[in-house]
Amino acid sequence: MGSPHISTELCALARQQQIVDGLIKDRFSVFPNYFSNELITDLYRELHHHINENHLHAAHIGKGPQRTRAQDIRGDSILWLNGGSAAQRACLNEMEQLRLAFNRQLFLGLTELEAHFACYPPGAGYQKHLDSFQNDNLRRVSIVAYLNPCWRNGDGGELLIYQEERIIAVVPPLGGTLVCFISEDIPHQVAVTRRDRSSIAGWFRVRELDTVPFPCG
Ligand code: OGA
Ligand code: MN
Repeated sequence: MGSPHISTELCALARQQQIVDGLIKDRFSVFPNYFSNELITDLYRELHHHINENHLHAAHIGKGPQRTRAQDIRGDSILWLNGGSAAQRACLNEMEQLRLAFNRQLFLGLTELEAHFACYPPGAGYQKHLDSFQNDNLRRVSIVAYLNPCWRNGDGGELLIYQEERIIAVVPPLGGTLVCFISEDIPHQVAVTRRDRSSIAGWFRVRELDTVPFPCG
């Protein structure tokens, strides 16, 4: 009989493996109950504390000179994770294990994760898009973790995953579900939500190439 500690570790490895296998086979993975209820509850409470304190700001689209606010395209408000709470650190630690698994098995050379809390109010969504910027494709694998304690048919707000024009997956944003996909390959959309919709969205990136010229002579 193994120790409970070892079986917990094995479950974590099996979960990670399922995510990696999905990325290899379909270029995306969906895993309900990836995170414990306890962690999701803590993250949800933390996000709603930040919302009440007005710590979120309206999200933008694009990067550099193309960066704009376009609420008809993207209606969420966000707050970047900074590892400032035990719940954030636990979540970031889970993501770090995934980063290592992706690098070991997919040779992606991912160096860092950037991630933010997001809340879409009723009536908001995010039109079909790719997560890699036109002028910067350093984002390689996208992740979304949902924080909503319940989600019913008819609440809207599903993540729609496309293959060209065809929807190939519809994911309700129920707390605990983790979605991962290859950022530059998978067009996706957030359907207009009818209730507040809480999540963490993040991107594993590769490091920007050093632009400082190599000193010579
Ligand atoms: C994003 C995004 C999907 C979701 O923030 O880029 O596509 O389900 N989010 O929240
Ligand atoms: Mn996206």
